[in-house]
Amino acid sequence: MSIDFTALAQKYGTPLYVYDFDVISENYRKLKEAFAGHKSLIAYAVKANSNLSVLKHLGELGAGADCVSIGEVRRARTAGIAPYRIIFSGVGKRDEEIEQALREEILMLNLESEAEMERVEAIAKTLGKEARISIRVNPDVDPKTHPYISTGLHENKFGVAIETAKRMYIRAKNSDWLDPVGIHFHIGSQLTELEPIREAAQIVADLVRSLAAIGVEIRFFDVGGGLGVVYDEETTIDLAQYAETITTAIRGLDLTIVCEPGRYLVANAGWLLTRVLYEKRNGDKRFVIVDAAMNDLLRPSLYKAYHRIEPLFDGSDRGEASPADIVGPICESGDWLGKEVALPPTRSGDLLLIHSAGAYGFTMASNYNTRGRAAEVTCEGGACRLIRKRESFEDQIRLETEPLEEKQ
Ligand SMILES: Cc1ncc(COP(=O)(O)O)c(C=O)c1O
Repeated sequence: MSIDFTALAQKYGTPLYVYDFDVISENYRKLKEAFAGHKSLIAYAVKANSNLSVLKHLGELGAGADCVSIGEVRRARTAGIAPYRIIFSGVGKRDEEIEQALREEILMLNLESEAEMERVEAIAKTLGKEARISIRVNPDVDPKTHPYISTGLHENKFGVAIETAKRMYIRAKNSDWLDPVGIHFHIGSQLTELEPIREAAQIVADLVRSLAAIGVEIRFFDVGGGLGVVYDEETTIDLAQYAETITTAIRGLDLTIVCEPGRYLVANAGWLLTRVLYEKRNGDKRFVIVDAAMNDLLRPSLYKAYHRIEPLFDGSDRGEASPADIVGPICESGDWLGKEVALPPTRSGDLLLIHSAGAYGFTMASNYNTRGRAAEVTCEGGACRLIRKRESFEDQIRLETEPLEEKQ
């Protein structure tokens, strides 16, 4: 559908996150279809966008959830996603998180160290429940992406080396309290090359074969997330080739493929809408100051990430476009949303649309500078609705325990 962003800005104010659920549905279907003919579970990476309405929408399409905290597990459950479609990953799970996950009877806990396996075993024993587990293997493959979002090299904190994984599987097989049902790898995010995925899938599939030879029967082959999207002019991975790469790697094995996309499903189904406050020049440098900031969309400051910024006003009668840095009101030089963006002269109140903001946008938002987080709206089948209210000052101070009366 074509979204009337100007009407949404008028109705809900700015900064405003806007999502298109029809685009999410389409992305989900394309990926699911790529795996047609093979048992598969698409476990959406909740961290990318954890709004309950987004989770409910994906859950209704058939998606499961890949979670990295018990909070995310609870979000998925609240949104109606069945426990047997939920995976709980992460390098540092606390005891109470492990306990709750076991009580919830989720599909599997994805373990990232021997020490963690010992804790899970002990907690499972106390609860009298067998814990279904998978182990995150670090295949030591360079994903050729931004170093901050690369995770599959030994120098990264994620997963365990192949030899360690083998030891852990043997231990789990011999335990009354652990059921090793899955294997997992995730080499990085925003992947645009297939070769590292092929390499990692083959390494991990070979491990599955050698485990089968010693009686450890893995049932779920979890290839993580990481499918890249177009922010600028990237060439993305062809989904049919992606699926074929994985099915080829596991040929002859009876496995359900689990895939954990976040960004692929939601990044280009979301926008951040912002209004111009002022324009100014510092020497030769032109700045357009807007009402969104790094607390709303951190990716540019955090990774120098590029987001296309589109003017939603007709500036044709205002003179030549020239490069401007689009910056927010936060007191940090790193508070920018776009660099050297070609824009005609702007006026206070003009709208700018920041593209590809549906993933790692709102979920990374903070209250820095005591700024309330933006509202979220979704559009579906031609109608738009509010799915999260704008955060007020009162919302922000609600948990602070000192007396709230103003000092005289
Ligand atoms: C284990 C795991 N699975 C899935 C994802 C989702 O990645 P993406 O949004 O790139 O698909 C991540 C991202 O950090 C991850 O760490």
